[in-house]
Amino acid sequence: VVYDDAHYASSVVAAEIAQLIREREQEGRPCVLGLATGSSPIRVYEELVRLHREEGLSFKNVVTFNLDEYYPMSNQNVQSYHYFMQEYLFKHIDIPEENINIPKGDLEPEEVLEFCVSYEKKIKSYGGLDFQLLGIGRTGHIGFNEPGSHFNSRTRLITLDHLTRSDAAPAFLGIENVPKKAITMGIRTVLDARRVVLLAWGQNKAEIVQKAVEGEITSQVPSTYLQEHDNTTFILDKGAASEL
Ligand code: GLP
Repeated sequence: VVYDDAHYASSVVAAEIAQLIREREQEGRPCVLGLATGSSPIRVYEELVRLHREEGLSFKNVVTFNLDEYYPMSNQNVQSYHYFMQEYLFKHIDIPEENINIPKGDLEPEEVLEFCVSYEKKIKSYGGLDFQLLGIGRTGHIGFNEPGSHFNSRTRLITLDHLTRSDAAPAFLGIENVPKKAITMGIRTVLDARRVVLLAWGQNKAEIVQKAVEGEITSQVPSTYLQEHDNTTFILDKGAASEL
């Protein structure tokens, strides 16, 4: 779906999430959200905060699983996805702290594998993801599933692409400060979600959005796997849709 305005498009996505939260509350079961970081979802989070403050939308019944975190990375670091989520969403809403799940960047190397397995188990214990929000990286990654990621991959430690690290360099004041690895949900983790919404804004994303939507399905562009998911919507502005 192509919108004139990313701001308005973000409010449509936030309204869908709010509706889902309310439905699950009425059904008396938790709403399980997969969340993303990066610049693309910021306005969705701002709108959810507004709905919380002005329309009484409660997150008490919401459980969240973030897609990814740099590794190694301390939670307190301003470049961490832990910090990002606190700043843009969690500190402004009434979600119980124990309902928040984000891959840990501060594990010892020998703890990583067990953590990844337990992350998947925890998602399953809630009945899977009701909704997964995504951005897209210029390598075609979703989460941090870089080119070469297998369609059956699960939460794991990956090595970041050079392009991904160079796109992140300004936030880290130089590519040499960008971690070389990350922990990310896998492609299969994302494809198991009952609903997937990918956001992309601006001309900078036009080439990779074209490949993701119209290109052949290939591990070289992991976002092409979304073509096989039957309830995925790409929400684009005119710039991001300009190569379609
Ligand atoms: C990072 C995140 C991705 C995100 C991508 C795009 O690599 N791990 O989940 O989709 O950045 O970021 P942005 O939305 O800032 O373009």
